Amino acid sequence: MMKQITTAVLLACATAAVQTQAHAQNASQPWLDRAKSPDERARSAVAAMTLDEKLLLINGFTGKEDLDKVGDDIVAPAIKADVGAHAIKGAAGYIPGIARLGIPPQWQTDASIGVRVVGMARTALPSSLATAASFDPAVSEAGGRMIANEARASGFNTLLAGGANLVREPRNGRNFEYVGEDPLLAGRMAGALVQGIQSQHMVSTMKHFALNDQESQRTTVDVTMSPEAMRESDLLAFELLDEQAKPGSVMCSYNLVNGRWACENEYLLNKTLKEDWGFKGFVMADWGAVHSTADAANYGLDQFTGFPCCNHHGPFYSAKYFKAALDSGAVSMRRLDDMATRILWPFFATGTFDDPPKVGPIDFKAHADVSQRAAEESLVLLKNQGNLLPLAGVKSVALIGGHADKGVLAGGGSSGLTPVGGNAVPDIEPKKWPGPVVYMKSSPLDELKAELPKARIGYASGTDIAAAVALAKQSEVAVVFVTQWLGEDFDGKLELDGNQDALVAAVAKANPKTVVVVESGGAILMPWLNQVPAVLEAFYPGIRGGAAIARILTGKVNPSGHLPISFPASNAQLAHAEIPGFGKPHDTAVHITYDEGAAIGYKWYDAKGYKPLFAFGHGLSYTSFAAAEPKASVANGALSVSATLKNTGKLAGKGLLQVYVAAGDPKAAGWDAPKRLVAFQKFELQPGASSAFTQAVDPRLLATYEVADNSWHIHAGTYHVLVGQAADALPLSVDVTLPELKWSAVHKN
Ligand code: BGC
Repeated sequence: MMKQITTAVLLACATAAVQTQAHAQNASQPWLDRAKSPDERARSAVAAMTLDEKLLLINGFTGKEDLDKVGDDIVAPAIKADVGAHAIKGAAGYIPGIARLGIPPQWQTDASIGVRVVGMARTALPSSLATAASFDPAVSEAGGRMIANEARASGFNTLLAGGANLVREPRNGRNFEYVGEDPLLAGRMAGALVQGIQSQHMVSTMKHFALNDQESQRTTVDVTMSPEAMRESDLLAFELLDEQAKPGSVMCSYNLVNGRWACENEYLLNKTLKEDWGFKGFVMADWGAVHSTADAANYGLDQFTGFPCCNHHGPFYSAKYFKAALDSGAVSMRRLDDMATRILWPFFATGTFDDPPKVGPIDFKAHADVSQRAAEESLVLLKNQGNLLPLAGVKSVALIGGHADKGVLAGGGSSGLTPVGGNAVPDIEPKKWPGPVVYMKSSPLDELKAELPKARIGYASGTDIAAAVALAKQSEVAVVFVTQWLGEDFDGKLELDGNQDALVAAVAKANPKTVVVVESGGAILMPWLNQVPAVLEAFYPGIRGGAAIARILTGKVNPSGHLPISFPASNAQLAHAEIPGFGKPHDTAVHITYDEGAAIGYKWYDAKGYKPLFAFGHGLSYTSFAAAEPKASVANGALSVSATLKNTGKLAGKGLLQVYVAAGDPKAAGWDAPKRLVAFQKFELQPGASSAFTQAVDPRLLATYEVADNSWHIHAGTYHVLVGQAADALPLSVDVTLPELKWSAVHKN
């Protein structure tokens, strides 16, 4: 007893001593005090810094080898040594810490689908576009938590995730990194990803800000667009994301917007992001996107990242250049303090400062389960004539093409990670940036065999069409896999490469029971669509994509994905016949005017009266659903909508209610297109069951943005609330009268 008391007393004394020490330290170093607000902590840390320490925070580096080629007058030897000692090799970026003040370094890694470090095997989620097809923010959020967990266990505290550019140009090589063509969907899905990431004590970005919608000439293209249309479309996606998730940083993009580089664009960075939206974090530059010192600093760029790997135009934020700008008065010390404060703020706000990453083991099995669940929520059954799918009780299957014996395709560039298990098909060109072309080791053939143990399943590569046809003829069902590889730094086309269209047509002719599985970065044309009864869009389905495909084909999982993009019926339907600079040498100066304004995707098709191949929101299930009881009410000018969804089929499944508002008179409403998505909700329903939902509609989705007085404006009139299960399948409608409403675009934080 005596001994116990003594130990307890001693422990209490020791704890008290530690607390006193901590109090003393917190008093002299208030940024270490968790009781203080993130603002106070960031401000007090910056107040304690020397000029050189502040300048450390605003420069990010790629790696020691790169830096060794840079003069010591630009990057001091001590910094080079620090980068050599502490940067994670093969990662995107590193910012030295300030040990004297207990400020840790920033370790940055790509991207939205998982941790990309060359040579470090990590778990890949399905592409972000695939996850958007789940129309379920909880799926995105779970993915965000998983990749942040891997990032922490790999030693990182910043994830360069949160891609949210709208799919404005269907051939953009990076569409697979984005979250669809609609601002509400994109904002919610990317917002949930960022929330998931930051909930794990990790700083996330949102990117690429803004209008970086083509990869051809991405570093030189100048985009002309009216502020009204921007605010109602591309910027609205970012605004909703920012509000929902408060990402710690924003990555400004390579391109110019209305004649000004995005990373020194006062309208985008200072006015919209920082003033109107009240963004408190920092703006980091895409790798190689900085063009000046004073203009960049004064117009909103806080951190010059990724030096010197990526075609930099100059070391504009190096101590040498920045001190000169301070000395000449071109940049104020106040602004430098603001930059440093903004950079530190999210590390306090997200809990990353107080809970630093720890390198440790990763539960790859559990993480692959997260990825598989995401894929199973996301694959879109586009067509299923005569209920050919699911393949229950089938005796023989011909699997054809797409390396389906080995794995599933992934996208290239900075989102292209080294997957756990390695590359299933390592020999495809390009092997270098933006390659390598990676196939995740999740073989649809093996997985299908596991799901259909009694069936005879053969495989033909598809390179020899005659051999594929012969196999299809001997089999009850043929499943043809087609692929479209896309990636960063190049744009694609809607047509499939090589002999793939001819292959599908020939197989479909040989066997009328032909299913096509598409692994693509975005939309493709399907000249064979009328010849095949079933099509499954798998996008890039992630580390367990083969399992997800097999389980959906066989009915173990009931498909529930819906398209986050429209599929054009032809190139003639695109808003821009050609991508300016497509196929031309890098850095050719080009220009594009977005005269389609906010009419992107389904809005464009509506405005033009075009019928797409598959509409935004389209997606089938093995059961059926019916929407009912549409209602709309207006209270104090605010619209809220409700409806029910019933499972009218025989199987359990997940259905998606979509609510759009169409302006009675789009011209009078000031809209660029007839209707806008205003709400969506996914429900899991047993046969015969139904569920109801009510959602308040974000008023910006009904409004026009008015630049003259920086306001949102709902024009009084009649509006139709349309309810259904796809942009082109909205059987229910109820009218509302909205009163005139105008309010400031400045957030009340
Ligand atoms: C990409 C960014 C990426 C960065 C760092 C750039 O090429 O555009 O998305 O985060 O590289 O790897």
